[in-house]
Amino acid sequence: IDIKTLRGVTGGVTTIDPGYKNTGSCESAITFLDGEKGILRYRGYSIEELAEKASFLEVAYLLIFGELPTQTQLDKFHSDIKAQSVVDDDVKKILDAFPKSAHPMGVLSSLTSALTAFNPSSVNVDSEEDMYNAIVRILGKFPVLVAWTLRKKKGLPLDYGDSSIGYVENVLKMMFKQPNEDYKMNPILVDALDKLLILHADHEQNCSTSTVRIVGSSHAGLFASLSAGISALWGPLHGGANQAVLEMLEAIKEDGGDTKKYMGKAKDKEDPFRLMGFGHRVYKNFDPRAKIIKVAADEVLGDLGVEDPILDIAKGLEREALEDDYFVKRKLYPNVDFYSGIIYRAMGIPVEMFTVMFALGRLPGWIAQWREMRLRKEPIGRPRQVYVGENTRDFVEISKR
Ligand code: ACO
Repeated sequence: IDIKTLRGVTGGVTTIDPGYKNTGSCESAITFLDGEKGILRYRGYSIEELAEKASFLEVAYLLIFGELPTQTQLDKFHSDIKAQSVVDDDVKKILDAFPKSAHPMGVLSSLTSALTAFNPSSVNVDSEEDMYNAIVRILGKFPVLVAWTLRKKKGLPLDYGDSSIGYVENVLKMMFKQPNEDYKMNPILVDALDKLLILHADHEQNCSTSTVRIVGSSHAGLFASLSAGISALWGPLHGGANQAVLEMLEAIKEDGGDTKKYMGKAKDKEDPFRLMGFGHRVYKNFDPRAKIIKVAADEVLGDLGVEDPILDIAKGLEREALEDDYFVKRKLYPNVDFYSGIIYRAMGIPVEMFTVMFALGRLPGWIAQWREMRLRKEPIGRPRQVYVGENTRDFVEISKR
């Protein structure tokens, strides 16, 4: 039965589902997740195996094109991306206009949208070839914008990166290389960032991905759709949680490290405080990504020789939550963002940049979902509503109100 016939049969009945808790917005062959069992797979491959064995660029290729690349395909993909990694000098002027205090997510969203103006051919993408060109373009330019956003914050001169090294290595070098310094790559940081980006790369129809699909469904360009996704990711109930988690852990430490007090606040319905990094719309068991990140956080801090009291507070909160009736009954477990900030901090990434790092990881997922939506020729996203406002009213002149 097609949708037009269905509408005829139901008489145009509208289902109402705030937060779309039970609404599927599309069919998708990209990411499978089972929230009850704590399973996450990209194109059929388990997240555990991908995080251990694949590189971020291989995962990006897998998500976008559906198969793991051969070495030749990966090399071509990487070289096409590198060929597009120059950002127009005028974008720097836009960056310059932002105050240093601007939140990096706002800056990133604006710059991503601004890229459309400098790459107009990326808007009307009717063929797979046009799509491919737009995709490698943004995969090349986005890390530059990410690194520039950080360098602006730190007052460092902008760096154009190094095309002779790997994608993730280049991200680190562009972010951290000091002027006139011979940057030394730390393989521990490269591995940790690679893993974090893979874990964040896609998560089916979450808030930012749904945003990218719905904006893209009007045939707005890829960069505009991604810019909207970045704004959606910014919020503390979504990607912004990684910043909020670290700020919360810091606040608990400053307040004497009394985790029980904050557990109490989180359970108090009169108190707006929530335990950031706990709970998930879909995972009602553990978040498989959080398990991998927890182990990675231990390894990275151990390898770097960093002792961080914040990690102990995080582990304490997790222990208490697992034994607490309130959290157990509501199936609130640590999510991907509970431990990621601890690793980012150990890497020297400022707290305000955490959600930007999430965006860098999510980029291939957003692109894959946008491409799938366009290839499937999905109709424009346009939900209905149930009107609950006033019925007809007579207009009253302003002098008589
Ligand atoms: N701390 C305390 N209580 C919580 C928390 C929390 N972190 N999360 C949910 N609850 C409680 C709610 O108060 C509610 O209680 P009630 O049944 O007594 O009213 C119950 O658990 C269900 O919560 P909802 O908000 O209805 O669940 P929903 O699926 O809408 O929200 C969300 C999921 C937004 C992730 C929520 O758990 C939350 O706010 N967590 C903290 C923020 C966070 O970590 N976000 C990152 C998510 S992962 C990501 O985007 C990458």
